[in-house]
Amino acid sequence: MKRTKIVDALASKEIGKLINIKGWVRTKRENKNVAFLAVNDGSTIHNIQVVVDVPNFDEETLKLATTGAGISITGTLVSSMGKGQNVEVQANEIEIYGTADPNSYPLQKKGHSLEFLRSIAHLRPRTNTFGAVFRIRHAMAYAIHKYFNDRGFYYLHTPIITASDAEGAGAMFQVTTLPLDNLPKTETGAINYTEDFFGKMTSLTVSGQLEGELGAMALSEIYTFGPTFRAENSNTPRHLAEFWMIEPEMAFYDINDNMDLAENFLKFCVNYALDNCMDDLKFLNDMFDKELIERLQFVISNNFKRLTYTEAVEILEKADKKWEFPVSWGVDLQAEHERYLVEEHFKTPVVLIDYPKEIKAFYMKSNDDGKTVRAMDVLFPRIGEIIGGSQREEDYDKLVARMHEVGIEPEEMWWYLDTRRFGSAPHSGFGLGFERLLLFVTGMGNIRDVIPFPRTPMNVEF
Ligand code: 4AD
Ligand code: MG
Repeated sequence: MKRTKIVDALASKEIGKLINIKGWVRTKRENKNVAFLAVNDGSTIHNIQVVVDVPNFDEETLKLATTGAGISITGTLVSSMGKGQNVEVQANEIEIYGTADPNSYPLQKKGHSLEFLRSIAHLRPRTNTFGAVFRIRHAMAYAIHKYFNDRGFYYLHTPIITASDAEGAGAMFQVTTLPLDNLPKTETGAINYTEDFFGKMTSLTVSGQLEGELGAMALSEIYTFGPTFRAENSNTPRHLAEFWMIEPEMAFYDINDNMDLAENFLKFCVNYALDNCMDDLKFLNDMFDKELIERLQFVISNNFKRLTYTEAVEILEKADKKWEFPVSWGVDLQAEHERYLVEEHFKTPVVLIDYPKEIKAFYMKSNDDGKTVRAMDVLFPRIGEIIGGSQREEDYDKLVARMHEVGIEPEEMWWYLDTRRFGSAPHSGFGLGFERLLLFVTGMGNIRDVIPFPRTPMNVEF
């Protein structure tokens, strides 16, 4: 018999129909005459209730249908008198696929802490919380592709292994096939990378932007959506060593077009979640964060506040606050500063532009003041920086001069500079950290809880 997903069974109006459902037992309640199994198959946060007339079933089978067991049930869809559901299944047949010993199954009881669940990341998708988070993660990935596809952007696959580390976004993980216990050396004693797989030193990418620019200078509007890797030892609730980034790159966009796109894009994603993930959002709202849905609605219905870095620093200097990291013009803003601007001062998402060039990457377009560049960071409540981007320097000579200033060999990036030698044009782009977006949309407090298998320092078990 063809299986019906629980999400469809719960919405079905075909009372009296024989159906088959499959899933995992969440709870079992029973007495001599009747047993109730709550079964979930991940298609929805809601369980379906299965009613079992105990005397009609083999005692052994029922005994094995404990919390966590994988089962198949064939039975009649009937109206439910119980609270919280319209229909339930009156069981005719139960097949146990796999048992889950109550003495050792770690999810036997409800109410485990998120910390504990992190230590069983292989099983935590079976909880309500992580089911909700991962369904929302899927929906957001789909929304992102839909947003760009509907606007004529092309999805460009940029490489994961790279020979350039010019982004300067963070420490890189090296990729090599050289024997680490017996490295080939040159005459001067340096590692001889000509013997490595690619003939030079390579790493995992920190960003697809530089290759994304090459695509935009031909296809006009592209986006990347892939994993990126940063080996910083920052053990914070907002950093992962492996995270997913969305990087649109657009020819003929200036910084204002870039800000407009970023704001419209973020609002689209949040709106998509409200339209398509309400059951899961309601669960997370009730369980963890009573203001979640309100906050999402607030973000889509208010304009982001746009101002310059210089204006922001003036506000922060005047603020009646004790900063852990003191503020003055020229310093990189910390999460505490970003969150003050968003949560206390403006009480709305903020876009900061025109940062000092010293704290931003070499490829950002210089402003006429000679001190600042056309960078843009989007700051969100609870998150701080959710997007980083800029208008790019399209002038060949200025770009080469800037590379010299920061110590990048222009020859090593000849392919990047070629876009400025041949048919250069104004262009802009940004990067959205996918897990930062998910932190915002789900209301979860720790980035390790919005990716199925988090990679952080000393954590790579699953
Ligand atoms: O600001 P970042 O470093 O910008 C870039 O990589 C540019 N190449 C983007 C571009 O212009 N195409 O990173 C972009 C975003 C950040 O705003 C943040 O949301 C996220 O990526 N991010 C991280 N997310 C999780 N863990 C980390 N370690 C992250 N580092 C950055
Ligand atoms: Mg940044």
